[in-house]
Amino acid sequence: MACFPFLLGWKTSGHPSLSPEVDEEIYAIDNVKIFTYNELRKATDGFSDFYKIGEGGFGPVYKARLKGGKRGAVKILSATSSQGVDEFLTEIKIISDIEHENLAKLYGYCVENGHRILVYNYLENNSLAHTLLGMNPKNIQFSWRTRYRIGIGVARGLAFLHEAMQPYIVHRDIKASNILLDTDMTPKISDFGLAKFIPPNMTHVSTRVAGTLGYLAPEYAVTGRLTRKADVYSFGVLLVEIVCGRKNTDMKLPLGEQYLLEKTWELYERRELVGLVDVAMNGDFDAEEACRFLKVGLLCTQQTSKQRPSMSTAVKMLTGELQIDDNKIKKPVLISDYADWKVRGPQKPSESKSNSYPAASSGSQNQTTSIFTSENSERGW
Ligand SMILES: Nc1ncnc2c1ncn2[C@@H]1O[C@H](COP(=O)(O)OP(=O)(O)OP(=O)(O)O)[C@@H](O)[C@H]1O
Ligand SMILES: [Mg+2]
Repeated sequence: MACFPFLLGWKTSGHPSLSPEVDEEIYAIDNVKIFTYNELRKATDGFSDFYKIGEGGFGPVYKARLKGGKRGAVKILSATSSQGVDEFLTEIKIISDIEHENLAKLYGYCVENGHRILVYNYLENNSLAHTLLGMNPKNIQFSWRTRYRIGIGVARGLAFLHEAMQPYIVHRDIKASNILLDTDMTPKISDFGLAKFIPPNMTHVSTRVAGTLGYLAPEYAVTGRLTRKADVYSFGVLLVEIVCGRKNTDMKLPLGEQYLLEKTWELYERRELVGLVDVAMNGDFDAEEACRFLKVGLLCTQQTSKQRPSMSTAVKMLTGELQIDDNKIKKPVLISDYADWKVRGPQKPSESKSNSYPAASSGSQNQTTSIFTSENSERGW
């Protein structure tokens, strides 16, 4: 890859200067195209509202017509974004290197005069948050077969990150808005900005807590000890959302109905899991498979991470290749418990008190965008 240090004009444009190590890192990244700002401006008609397809914590996302007729999704890191240089680099490094049917593809990036932009393959059917759980502007019908393929596809993508990659990769932000769907409704895991590497000889790394409330594994939220089982927890929450067609938290519902995981446990205990399956399918689904999926969701959200399956085991359970032992399904860690915990960074052992969870700020349980414990905490700025 060519080196263009002059493209990294962040200092002159008001952005903090990058360290030489970071500059080196970006030059060393292969396999992705470097776009010029002008090229991307033209491809999105000057970043016009007409081309805008969404906005997340990172900044706005635009549909783009790239050279050669390819369509791309152009994600601009806004100056006010809570995500920074480290997340930008992580994303490029991780997805430029890996290829899997269930992982989003990065075409390239642009770093020029303070602009930091990622360019992805454009995915026709937007995100699960938008379609299955949101306004669904295209009125996409999610049949049971489609949900089945999505659940298993996401599980396979995660199993690949967790078990086939060396070092292992923990995504840290598995949630409905980060599962994109292509024309065939094949799910693609996106947004690797928060991802972390775990060396093969280590079971965990300690990091500042980041992720999205509602999907965040409690033990990680409290201690900052990150294992692959934190993704397994988020996957469990997502899986239940896929089967039920409901967000994990909905404060507009009556008390007792607001937390989907709580409801799932209640119906599991009453042996009425099937009553939770999305009514939008008009009863046209395989009840055995749907209940199996919900049970896997419960297993993935068990209190201690050891009780949760690995992602490859979860895949086998979902496909029916591996029998689920009902005796292993205990009460999951519920969001209603979890909403009372304060999300914080890693602690020294002497500082941690077991079962001591200071109260979180009110309304945090509704938050769906990625969160960080402290501004720029992991960015090295
Ligand atoms: N490759 C893509 N193809 C099509 N649409 C996309 C693509 N990438 C993102 N989008 C759309 O842009 C929206 C914003 O994406 P983005 O990842 O920036 O934020 P988010 O996932 O909604 O929130 P967060 O910042 O917490 O991750 C997505 O919800 C999706 O609708
Ligand atoms: Mg996202």
